[in-house]
Amino acid sequence: MRHLLSTSDLTRDEALLILDTAAELGRVTDRAVKKLPTLRGRTVVNLFFEDSTRTRISFEAAAKRLSADVITFSAKGSSVSKGESLKDTALTLEAMGADAVVVRHHASGAPYRLAHSGWVGCSVVNAGDGTHEHPTQALLDAFTLREHLRELEGRRVVIVGDVLHSRVARSNVALLSTLGAQVTLVAPPTLLPVGVDTWPCAVSYDLDAALEGADAVMMLRVQNERMNAAYFPSTHEYSRRYGLDTRRAALLADGAIVLHPGPMNRGMEISADVADGPRSVIVEQVTNGVSVRMAVLYLVLGARAEDSAGEASAAEAVSA
Ligand code: CP
Repeated sequence: MRHLLSTSDLTRDEALLILDTAAELGRVTDRAVKKLPTLRGRTVVNLFFEDSTRTRISFEAAAKRLSADVITFSAKGSSVSKGESLKDTALTLEAMGADAVVVRHHASGAPYRLAHSGWVGCSVVNAGDGTHEHPTQALLDAFTLREHLRELEGRRVVIVGDVLHSRVARSNVALLSTLGAQVTLVAPPTLLPVGVDTWPCAVSYDLDAALEGADAVMMLRVQNERMNAAYFPSTHEYSRRYGLDTRRAALLADGAIVLHPGPMNRGMEISADVADGPRSVIVEQVTNGVSVRMAVLYLVLGARAEDSAGEASAAEAVSA
C-alpha cells in the first residue's frame, strides 16, 4: 500500500489488514508510555487546506505514537494566502524530506493529483477531499462497528442525512459493502447525488422504516457551508423528517449503535439525548481514529521502507 486515496481502491483483504493492524497497534494506548519506535526517522506532513479538529489531531497523535517526526501545515497563515499553488506547496514539503503527506483539501481529487502528478515521491493519504472521499473516517467507522457487532457480513447499517455533500457517506458505502454489510441511505431527495442508484446500497426516504431492526445508524452532518441553495424547507422540518431522536433510536435492533463522524449539529440531525445516550459510540469513534491512522501510516510507510525486510509486524512491534 503506497497511498490511501479511496476506500473503493481497497479489497476486502486489504481493508481487513488495516483494521487488524489498527487493533494490534491500538494496544499501545493501554500502556503508560504510548509510543512505539516503528517510524523513527520518518517525516509525516499534515497538509490541511480545510478546517479539521478530529482528523488533523488524530493523524498527529498517530504519527507521534509511532515516533515519526510530524510537521503540521495549515493553509490559513501560510503562503497559500499569497496564491501559492498546491504543486508549489507540495514541492516545498517534498524538499523538506516528507515521507508521507496527509492531505485534506476542499477540492475533490486534490490527493489524487498529488499522488499521481509526479510532483512528490512520498506516500499520500487522503484526509478528506471536497465531497469525494474520507477513507480513514470510513475505516475508523468500520473498526468501531466491528468492535460492537463483530462480523459485518449481513449487518444492516443505515446512513442518514446530507449524502449529497458527504465524503464520509461515499467512503462508507464503498467500504461497508466490500466488508459485506447491507447499507441503506436515507435522505431527502434533494440531498442525494445524481447516480446514487448505481452505488452498492439501497436508498430510502422513510427513516422510521429503515431504522426498524437495523444494527447501526450513522447520522451525517448537514453541511450548511457547502449549500448554495435551499435543500429543505426549514431546520425544524429537516429534524422532524430526518433527525434521530430517542423515539427513533428505539426502533433499532437490541445492541445497535449510533455513529456520527462529527462535528455534530446537535438538535438538528441528532438530538443531544441520543448523542450522549447509551447507544452512542461517537466518542469511541474518535479514540479508534488514532489506532486506524497509526495502522495506515504504518502500512504506507512500512511498505516504502528501505529496510522493510527487517521491519517487525504490527503485533511484534507492540509486543517488543
Ligand atoms: N470527522 C471529521 O473529519 O472531523 P474533522 O473535520 O473535525 O476532522
